[in-house]
Amino acid sequence: MRPTRYLCSLTKMLDFYSQFNPSPLSIKQFMDFGYQACERKSYTFLRKELPVRLANIMKEIALLPENLTRMPSVVLVTDWYARSFDDIIAFEKSDVSAGTLDRFCETLVRVRNRHSDVVQTMAQGVMELKESHSVDQQTDNSIQYFLDRFYMSRISIRMLINQHTLLFGSDVKGSENPTGHIGCIDPQCDLIGVVKDAYENARFICDQYYLSSPELRLKEINDVEHGAPIRIVYVPSHLYHMLFELFKNAMRAVMEHHGDSEDGVPPVEVVVCRGKEDICVKMSDRGGGIPRSSTDMLFHYMYSTAPQPSKSDSHTVPLAGYGYGLPISRLYARYFHGDLTLMSCDGFGTDAMIYMKALSNEANELLPVFNKASSKFYRTAIPTNDWSHGSSLGVRHLTTRNAYMRDRMS
Ligand SMILES: Nc1ncnc2c1ncn2[C@@H]1O[C@H](COP(=O)(O)OP(=O)(O)O)[C@@H](O)[C@H]1O
Ligand SMILES: [Mg+2]
Repeated sequence: MRPTRYLCSLTKMLDFYSQFNPSPLSIKQFMDFGYQACERKSYTFLRKELPVRLANIMKEIALLPENLTRMPSVVLVTDWYARSFDDIIAFEKSDVSAGTLDRFCETLVRVRNRHSDVVQTMAQGVMELKESHSVDQQTDNSIQYFLDRFYMSRISIRMLINQHTLLFGSDVKGSENPTGHIGCIDPQCDLIGVVKDAYENARFICDQYYLSSPELRLKEINDVEHGAPIRIVYVPSHLYHMLFELFKNAMRAVMEHHGDSEDGVPPVEVVVCRGKEDICVKMSDRGGGIPRSSTDMLFHYMYSTAPQPSKSDSHTVPLAGYGYGLPISRLYARYFHGDLTLMSCDGFGTDAMIYMKALSNEANELLPVFNKASSKFYRTAIPTNDWSHGSSLGVRHLTTRNAYMRDRMS
């Protein structure tokens, strides 16, 4: 139990920092920052920006339905955030000495480690709620809305921490940088290489489940420098995450749809294209597609048509089953103002698209901002439908008709 005085001062500091909007950076700004490599400048920026981002999302956790915030896993996550906020604001008034800079770096590493299981733990909290309470549509909408903002905030905080620790951490100081990466950004990211990597790893898991897997057909179109290999300025780990998830989905669909065919299974086709504004990756499978009645659910957290992986298999990476693949991948795409969409042809197959900004100065962070509008969202009721809808049309029609008959007979 924390002393009341501590909690009061924490609440005050949270109120203070949550008044500020986060300052989004573009990939170009991250790069320029990295080239200058001024640790003091980075420290001065982060000791304010990190508490601002933490406070903005902590204020939103507080708006969640009370029965969710009381779930043990959510209490745990809330406590991690409070500790990390506290650890970082301890530097608010520190002078900039070499010792302070080293301690700041160590604190960031501690915060990153503390938060490594946030995604699973928050997901566990939502599951605890669903197991112990009935969750109505309005609450479910709020949870989905919150999870998008919460996980996006986490991606952004990790990005800031990684940039600082990779550039100035004790293990990199003074050493050479053979990869040419600026923190976790690769200025010459080999898109095709990442596609192949993600494919091979997804294929390995697919082979374990189905003893076979679809081939990859890959096509590269560079519409800006014709014929040259596509290189982009991006965070390879984000790109890998999205592609790995899309490959697992495509492979599962293909194997489920064609697994027992004697002629083998159709390949997964990927087109990588660089245009003037966008870089696109299109992944097409012939896995039987998705009916339109399900497409609204695809980006819902916890929506999955696969059986939930058993806890005894927790040491292996499952092919599917948690329903987090698509929504989290879309966040990675949107984080730098890209997108991820799915188009499907029921009975045939699915096209998944990843869009990225081709220009690094346009690839700005997309960040949740806590304000009156966001708090309103958690309180508004679901809008009433003002379009006719399926079977309700029949019911309404019948009642009107009955009323008409009654009028005539009276
Ligand atoms: N390429 C695809 N073809 C058919 N269905 C798909 C495809 N991609 C996603 N889906 C459907 O969307 C659901 C959610 O996908 P995802 O978020 O990755 O969760 P999971 O893979 O854990 O089920 C899948 O269970 C599947 O029903
Ligand atoms: Mg998946």
